[in-house]
Amino acid sequence: MKRLRTQVGIVGAGPAGLLLGHLLHLRGIDSIVLEDRSREYVIGRVRAGVLEQSTVDLLVSVGLGQRLQREGMRHGAIQLCFLRRRHRIDFEELTPGRFITVYGQNELVTDLIAARRATGRPLHFSVRDLHIADFDSAPRIGFQTEEDECEVACDFIAGCDGGHGVCRPSILTDHAGVVRVYEREYPFAWLGILAQASPSCEELVYALHDRGFALFSMRSPSITRLYLQCAPDENIKNWPDDRIWHELTARFDTADAWSPNRGAILQKGISAMHSLVVEPMRCGRLFLAGDAAHIVPPTGAKGLNLAVADVWVLAHALSAYYHEEREDLLEHYSDRCLRRVWAVQRFSWWMTSMLHLAPGGSDFDYRRQLADLDYVTTSRAAMTSLAENYTGLPLDSGSLPSES
Ligand code: FAD
Ligand code: DHB
Repeated sequence: MKRLRTQVGIVGAGPAGLLLGHLLHLRGIDSIVLEDRSREYVIGRVRAGVLEQSTVDLLVSVGLGQRLQREGMRHGAIQLCFLRRRHRIDFEELTPGRFITVYGQNELVTDLIAARRATGRPLHFSVRDLHIADFDSAPRIGFQTEEDECEVACDFIAGCDGGHGVCRPSILTDHAGVVRVYEREYPFAWLGILAQASPSCEELVYALHDRGFALFSMRSPSITRLYLQCAPDENIKNWPDDRIWHELTARFDTADAWSPNRGAILQKGISAMHSLVVEPMRCGRLFLAGDAAHIVPPTGAKGLNLAVADVWVLAHALSAYYHEEREDLLEHYSDRCLRRVWAVQRFSWWMTSMLHLAPGGSDFDYRRQLADLDYVTTSRAAMTSLAENYTGLPLDSGSLPSES
């Protein structure tokens, strides 16, 4: 058995775990990052694409903005499409001056891995049988690499292992009476594709059609990203390329004859939709962050941004512990994060409910959704609320209210 020691043991090399490792490094705090998938898998996983302005500002301020600022696509608006018409929600005018940036999660993860490598601090991919223990007192993480069976003793564990990791179930098993999970399933899923086609519109288009939801997005000047609402138990084999294009064309039927450009489909996959919150996000010396602590349906483009907001608060709290001998920020970690988490749950649930057709939903429901869309595209107050939430609420400064 190889015995190791670090200050913070980080489980998961997604955006939450890697960014936390970077923020701790900048504050001179040691960590080890452990990931059960290979580097190639983690980098190749196609997921989020939209970064809030505060996420971009944070990444730039910690030296991670070089490629993001060069290649990220800055958007000052989105479009909502219903009853064959597209309506702009102009963020820059409404907020004012705020925007979002389209930059693939896999590009961000690539940048984070390169930054970690440059620090020389440990990052292990493809670890096996990872388990955590004694997180109430003296936390340990056990795992296997190709060569060794290892155990790392740490002051704290950061559970950044996403929606299917081991940290959330460990908390639920060991502290069943203390921890509460709030959950909601949605009766639909998203079928997403990447297509070799130049984006036919400069902005994202969210569409509600009587055949269901569709979303137009992009990754670069030559790659379009598209999503379709489908059944949660849908089999991707039932969706040959022709059927996908046919359905997208039908759902993006607009009076001005706009439609996405077609091209070779490079990747396709189905993602379930789910809302979940774990309260509290801390148990003893184990802190959950990102998808390990909460899941939002993707309609508001918030999951990755929320993961970034969590680790920002956690890095401040750990820094106060190590550099100022203060534990109060660690004690407030969960409360501080949960305020934002619930604001974002509300927004993501609202966007999802407004834009998707529930199976078995009535004509009344559809008409009500259209009324919601009519309101949000005509009332300045409603548009401003959408713009404020979509571009992102301000990041928590990390200090307690009495200090700010
Ligand atoms: P993850 O990215 O899931 O990372 C967790 C890591 O832990 C993974 O690498 C995993 O392999 C690893 N792991 C799991 N178990 C173990 C274990 N036992 N041991 C070691 N490692 C483990 N969010 C947005 O903000 N904007 C968007 O536009 C957006 N669009 C999305 C579109 C889709 C289709 C989907 C599915 C999601 C989207 N999201 C979006 C959500 C976003 O992708 C997630 O919220 C984000 O990945 C969360 O980051 P994370 O680091 O918390 O978790
Ligand atoms: C993308 C994903 C989202 O969930 C969303 O709301 C907007 C865009 C994307 O992958 O580009």
